[in-house]
Amino acid sequence: QRSLLGLKELSKEEIQSILDRAAFWEANPNKVEPVQQGKFVANMFFENSTRTRFSFEVAEKRLGTEVLNFSAAVSSVQKGESIYDTVRTLESMGIDAGVIRLKPIGVLAEIATQIKVPLINAGDGNNEHPTQALLDLYTMRKQFGELRGLTVTIIGDVMHSRVARSNFYALQKFGVNLRFCAPQNMRAADLDVSYISIEEALQSDVIMMLRVQLERHENGMIKSAEDYREQYGLTMERAKQIAPHAIIMHPAPINRNVEIDDELVEHPQSRIFTQMQNGVPIRMAVIERALG
Ligand code: CP
Repeated sequence: QRSLLGLKELSKEEIQSILDRAAFWEANPNKVEPVQQGKFVANMFFENSTRTRFSFEVAEKRLGTEVLNFSAAVSSVQKGESIYDTVRTLESMGIDAGVIRLKPIGVLAEIATQIKVPLINAGDGNNEHPTQALLDLYTMRKQFGELRGLTVTIIGDVMHSRVARSNFYALQKFGVNLRFCAPQNMRAADLDVSYISIEEALQSDVIMMLRVQLERHENGMIKSAEDYREQYGLTMERAKQIAPHAIIMHPAPINRNVEIDDELVEHPQSRIFTQMQNGVPIRMAVIERALG
């Protein structure tokens, strides 16, 4: 299986092998290794992105592939063309793999049954964001040496988070003590996980903050940004309680001074920009796996 639709179905060994291959690529940074020359990869983003889109493009270019960037805003999607017809069109032109980000849930899995080229999920609705969770695991493994035995707490808008779901599926396979912390109306009914208070959450090896996804909210999910920060934000005051060895993570984009205080984004214990840096070798490993 060369597609990567999610981490739910991926074995621990398969995840480990992607992390190991990413470590190989990280060892020789900023160099183009044209090991996949002549292969065409299409990045098809039907929803906005900065990190995922550009780190896939950097990864593809570092592997020497030909990169096709599709943007829904300037495509025939604007004339009503379906996502399936768009992907099928690019397949018929001879792409070797497709990277896809979508808003609706379930569409990618459906398309993958009808398309022959490997597809990589770059985030679908609140379902999964596998390459984000892979880079998160990679960042944790690099920091602590191994994942087993770590206490990881994911804090915030779990309900709307594909990052939380992919991390949940992956971290479970590695013997991590995973806890969630979220307001009652932002919890995920589909995930069997325990919720703890923000005070308990600070006692973790990894504190992973989530973005409050205002664009996916129905009216009134939060009283105000100030109120959310007071109840669930990682404030400077709260950060004083975290252990010296603990790290702060966030998939970004960040709502500064809502889920995390501005001063903490580049705090010595923050690994937020390290996560972004690790996205490139992880996506190189994933593209390589797709191209075979
Ligand atoms: N973390 C992440 O997926 O960021 P983008 O939405 O900018 O790709």
